[in-house]
Amino acid sequence: MSVTVVTTIAEVRVAVAAARRAGKTVGFVPTMGALHEGHAALVRSAAATSGFVVVSVFVNPTQFGPKEDFAKYPRTLEADQKLCGEAGAQLVFAPSAAEMYPERSVTFVEVKELDAELDGPARPGHFRGVCTVVLKLFNIVLPDVAHFGAKDGQQARIIRQMVRDLNVPVEVRVEPTVREADGLAMSSRNRYLSPTERSTAPAIYRALQNVKARALAGEIDVARLESALHAELAAIPGSRVDYARILDSETLQPLPRLDRPALAAVAVFIGTTRLIDNVLIQ
Ligand code: PAJ
Repeated sequence: MSVTVVTTIAEVRVAVAAARRAGKTVGFVPTMGALHEGHAALVRSAAATSGFVVVSVFVNPTQFGPKEDFAKYPRTLEADQKLCGEAGAQLVFAPSAAEMYPERSVTFVEVKELDAELDGPARPGHFRGVCTVVLKLFNIVLPDVAHFGAKDGQQARIIRQMVRDLNVPVEVRVEPTVREADGLAMSSRNRYLSPTERSTAPAIYRALQNVKARALAGEIDVARLESALHAELAAIPGSRVDYARILDSETLQPLPRLDRPALAAVAVFIGTTRLIDNVLIQ
């Protein structure tokens, strides 16, 4: 299937307006490119739901910290275009930074409280950048339904809250995490891993599954579960644990006992590559 690539906001508006006039529902999948099977699953789900599917490919500078991988983040637009077409998208929006952030852009969106743990403190300003660009993209594309991955669990929770709090007329759907055969969550950053690192990285998901199994076997003391999770991650060769937390999945706040649905979420450096993953415990 053929997909059109556009780089300006004006072109997106024209294409989406035409689709709407033709009576189509508009689906949207925001991405930073370097697309893989996890993104493809979101696009396929959007294509199953909506007659016109837009994928944005934009490495958003405002969500990267000064010491993070913005400059070296993989950019593979041609391959991304092919994947989007094969997965059923009609339009790829790949704007420049100047198109998205003209000079003197000074408005930002902040969702409080849900960023108190996990990637909030680990990546200051990250979710402000994510929310701002996602709301901008929603206002550009005007989709009926937007699709996000559970792999970025905190991000999905924060976007849902933003949409609710600001009355954004978009339905947010969160799709399951797509994994490699050995359990490693697919990520654009997996391509940074050396062959040795790639072979140890699936231990992250095994640790999450083990803590979930312990919880389901009756351990409800969160401090004990967190320390077992942390220890198992720290034992991965070449790893450094950024965080290993079990939080209330609704509020993303700490909870002492597992008496409600919880999210076990981790961020682990394997060498210099920071990987995140999570599982729901309920
Ligand atoms: P990116 O990391 O490219 O991810 C785009 C979307 O794909 C997100 O909703 C993410 O959760 C989802 N995704 C990534 N890996 C996945 C996997 N293995 N299984 C299922 N879904 C997966 O997340 C971002 O970009 C940005 O923060 C963005 C929302 C585009 C704002 O810039």
